[in-house]
Amino acid sequence: MHIDVITVVPALLESPFNHSIMQRAKDKGLLTVNVIDLRDYSKTTYKQVDDYQYGGGAGMVMMIEPIADCIADLKSKRTYDEVIYMSPDGQLLEQGLANRLSLYKNLIILCGHYKGIDERVREHFVTLEISIGNYVLSGGELAAAVVVDAIGRLLPGVLNNETSALEDSFQDDLIAPPVYTRPASFNGWEVPPILLSGHEAKIKQWRLEESLKRTKERRPELINKWDAPSNKET
Ligand code: ADE
Repeated sequence: MHIDVITVVPALLESPFNHSIMQRAKDKGLLTVNVIDLRDYSKTTYKQVDDYQYGGGAGMVMMIEPIADCIADLKSKRTYDEVIYMSPDGQLLEQGLANRLSLYKNLIILCGHYKGIDERVREHFVTLEISIGNYVLSGGELAAAVVVDAIGRLLPGVLNNETSALEDSFQDDLIAPPVYTRPASFNGWEVPPILLSGHEAKIKQWRLEESLKRTKERRPELINKWDAPSNKET
């Protein structure tokens, strides 16, 4: 998969893709993330990418021209499945959406800043708007990093154990069960004996029961989803 991230603050995206699982995905050639500085597409001497908003009001607005030129340049080299704009009023990022996006080949992610982007960008270029939660960040970069991470780890071959992404919390609308590692006893706090039993079927059953119990306690609305007609993405 190839992801182009357009930003006015490229430094904010220097680190997130260069470690751990994202780095592994890149090393294995399964993911390329190209961070593009929008100012490279500005035609003004001072590399302007924002301007005052028509009608007055506080805050600058990202201009359409550099964004249009940048997207045209990218589209001259690839065909994109989605042009995503990170925005608090977008579709909430959930596992189903990450699953769907992980099936695509090429994505553009546009990070908003200042007061937002000229509405015509949203009307004419953006095909999907994503929010990572009901709060406002100072820009779309951290949100874009979350989206890339959520997608990247799902790409086949990225995780060592092929099944582990399938067993994540939310993959089946259940919270993941508790996990433990050595020592089996610490401060008198014991690992549940079933996990030390070596009995695979019983361990599987225990994990499912723990998942259900946790989901009922912490996220009961996910359990209710099982009863309602499914409107999940995947
Ligand atoms: N930009 C600012 N806030 C955001 C959010 N919550 N999700 C995605 N992009 C954003």
